Amino acid sequence: MNPVGIDAVEIWTGKLELDLPGTLAPAKDEDPDKYRKGIGIERSSFPDLYEDIVTMGANAAKRLMDRKDLTPEDIGRIDVATESAFDNSKPVSTYVAGCLEQYFDGEFRHANKGERKFACVAGTQSIDDAYNWIRAGRNRGRAALVIATDTALYARGDPGESTQGAGAVAMLIDEDPDLVAISNEQGYGSMDETDFLKPNQQFPSVDGQRSMQVYLSRMREAVEDFESVAWDMHPDDLAYVPFHTPFPGMVRKAALLGYRHMSRDTEIEDALADEIGRQPREDAFDAREDYEDAIRDYMDDLKQTDQYRAWYDDAIEPTLGISRHVGNWYTGSVHIARIAALQSAAEAGRDLAGEKLLVGSYGSGAQAEIHAETVQPNWDHEIDQLNIDAQIDGRYDLSHDEYELVHDSHNYEKGSVDIDPFTEPSDEFVFTGWGRMNERQYEYIE
Ligand code: HMG
Repeated sequence: MNPVGIDAVEIWTGKLELDLPGTLAPAKDEDPDKYRKGIGIERSSFPDLYEDIVTMGANAAKRLMDRKDLTPEDIGRIDVATESAFDNSKPVSTYVAGCLEQYFDGEFRHANKGERKFACVAGTQSIDDAYNWIRAGRNRGRAALVIATDTALYARGDPGESTQGAGAVAMLIDEDPDLVAISNEQGYGSMDETDFLKPNQQFPSVDGQRSMQVYLSRMREAVEDFESVAWDMHPDDLAYVPFHTPFPGMVRKAALLGYRHMSRDTEIEDALADEIGRQPREDAFDAREDYEDAIRDYMDDLKQTDQYRAWYDDAIEPTLGISRHVGNWYTGSVHIARIAALQSAAEAGRDLAGEKLLVGSYGSGAQAEIHAETVQPNWDHEIDQLNIDAQIDGRYDLSHDEYELVHDSHNYEKGSVDIDPFTEPSDEFVFTGWGRMNERQYEYIE
C-alpha cells in the first residue's frame, strides 16, 4: 500500500500585525509579560481591508499550485475547513476555486468541493476525508487540496482578544507524499461540550477556563484511544508533537500531561523517582480529590525536572515558532505547528526522514484527534520553499487605534468603515465588494 499524506504546504498570513506586549498590553493596562510568558503570543496577524478567508486561502493555494506546477485538472477535490464562513449554503471552496480559475488555465469543473466544520479540528478532518478518498481509490490519480482558513477574531474586551489571528494553510494530499505520510491509526476524544461556540454570530461565546479543561480532557482520551490501536508511546519515539495551538501557553499544559502519560511505567519514571517520587496511582487513594491533588503536585515537580525540560525544548518548543508571531488560526493552527517544527529541523540541518510526529488536533464543542505521521525523504526540499518568515516580517505593524478600526472593518455588524488599506496588494487575490445577490467578489491583482 503506497503511503498517503501531505505532499506540499503553503501558508498565507494576514498582512497586518498587532504587537501584543508592546501595543495591546499598554492599551489594556496589562503587564506585557502576560503575553510574553503566560499566553506566549508576541504578535497577532490580522487581515488587511481587502483580505478575508477566501483571499488568504486562495493565495496560499495559488502559491502551492504554482510551485508544484499543477493545473486545476490535477485536483479532484477541494475542501475548505473554516469556522469563519460567511454563507450558510455556498461553500467557501467554490469562491476559492473561482479565484484560482481566474489565474490558472483550466477549471475545477469535475472536482468535488465542500466545507468542513468542527471548530479547529475541521482542518484535520478535511485531511482525513482526502486520505479516505484516496485510499478508497476514488481519486482517479488526482490529489486533494485542503485549505484551512480563518479570521479568529473575538469581541473587543473579551479575554479571547489576546489570542486572535488570521491566516490560511493550503495542503496537497496525495499518494507517495513528499512531506509526511499519515498513519492509518487514529484516536478520538469527543463529547458534546459548551465551551466555545458561535451560534449564528460572528464572534465566539467562550468560557475560557472551561475551554482549557475540555481541551486537555478530550486530548487525553484521544491519546488513550490512539494507543489502543497503535502502540504504547514513549517520549523518545517522537521527533515532534505538534498540538493545536490556540496559544503556546495552552500547549505547555498539554505537553506536560502528555509527557506524564508517556513516561508512566518507563525508565524515565524510575529515574525521576528519587527526585520527585513516583506518579500517583488512583487505586492508592480513597478519594478522587486527594488523587487529583497528588497529580497536580507531581506535575508541578515534573515540569521542573531536567528530563522534562530537555524533552519540551526538543519536541515541543520548535512547534510554537510560527504561532508566537501569528496567534490562533483556528483550523490552521495545528498545521502551522507541524510546519514550524519541520522548519526548525531544516534550519538545524537535522536529518528527519523516517522520524515520527504525533499530531494532536482539537476543536471546541469538542473533539480531539491524534494520529502519527512519518517524515518523508524529500521533506526538507518542500520546507525550504516556504516564505512564511518573510511574510511575517513584511506585515504592517498596527497602532492600537488602527487595530480598533481594522477590527471594526471586519465586524459584520458595524458595516463599512471609512479607512484605506494599510498595504498594497500585488500578485494576489483581493476582495472587491458585493454583487447583486450579496455574494462576495474577488479579483486577481498583478
Ligand atoms: P486571560 O484572562 O486573558 O488570561 O484569559 P489569564 O489571566 O488567564 O492569563 C493567561 C496566562 O498568563 C496564565 O497562565 C497566567 O498565569 C499568565 P497559566 O496560569 O494558565 O499557566 N500570566 C502571566 N505570566 C507571567 N507574567 C505575567 C502574567 N499575567 C498572566 N505578568 C484565556 C486567557 C485563554 C482564557 C483567554 O485568552 C481566552 O478565553 N481565549 C479563548 C479561548 C481559548 O483559546 N481556549 C483554549 C482552549 S480551547 C481551543 O483551543 C479551541 C479554540 O481554538 C477554538 C476552536 O476550537 O474553534 C479556541
